[in-house]
Amino acid sequence: MELSLDDHRERLTSFACSFLGESEKDDYSIQLKIDHTMRVLDNAAVICESTDMDNASKQAALLGALYHDVGRFPQYHRYKTFNDSISVNHALLGVKALISHRFLAGLPPAMKRTVYGAVRMHNMKVIPPNTPPELATVCNIVRDSDKLDIFLVMLSHLDLKNPNRTVVMDAKPDPEKFTPALLEELMRGEIADYRKITWTNDFKLLIAGWAFDLNFSKSYAILKSKGYINQIFDSLPKKEVFKKLRHKIEVHVEKQII
Ligand SMILES: [Fe+2]
Repeated sequence: MELSLDDHRERLTSFACSFLGESEKDDYSIQLKIDHTMRVLDNAAVICESTDMDNASKQAALLGALYHDVGRFPQYHRYKTFNDSISVNHALLGVKALISHRFLAGLPPAMKRTVYGAVRMHNMKVIPPNTPPELATVCNIVRDSDKLDIFLVMLSHLDLKNPNRTVVMDAKPDPEKFTPALLEELMRGEIADYRKITWTNDFKLLIAGWAFDLNFSKSYAILKSKGYINQIFDSLPKKEVFKKLRHKIEVHVEKQII
């Protein structure tokens, strides 16, 4: 029997909630990921509606969005961190959890493969160039939806005096400091590397750079309407180098909106 999206939402939620109850701090981290998941699902629904994808692909994109971070719950349970580089690749762990808990039981095999692929590739710096086009589209919806919500989560945590270390992945708070090599990568139009992050400003720069890496016009429209780019640059030190990057990003965003 095929479950509805609401049934899947309940399954994901009860799986996530099964990891609650260890401590208040741990519950905060888990709840944050549940809330993130639901907003990513909402973003994916909006982006899907803006495309002319067939219904099967839309369903795969919504399931991919719903399950993209399912690996975060066992990851946090085992390692008490969301930092993949010091624990485990949460996308891979997510696919394993989907299979072992039979989340997708009853779905056609092709749909399962697409959802597994989207979850597996959602956190890759770039998706492999030989990815079949239908899978790439589904995966890009999940990736854009995820990135758009990370803007929100990070912006609400990075400027706190005592940011939650788990959320900002141990980036050190300092109003002025940043890593010049990371800024240079962005100015060259490259996607910055998570591993170069030392300061909270580096994190802001990294997510600002995602403005070069969204895949749908609707994603750019959401980015602009939420004012994320303005919020990021308004909170960075007032330096000429940041002004240049801001301009480059603003021009790019405008060009992508139909
Ligand atoms: Fe993720």
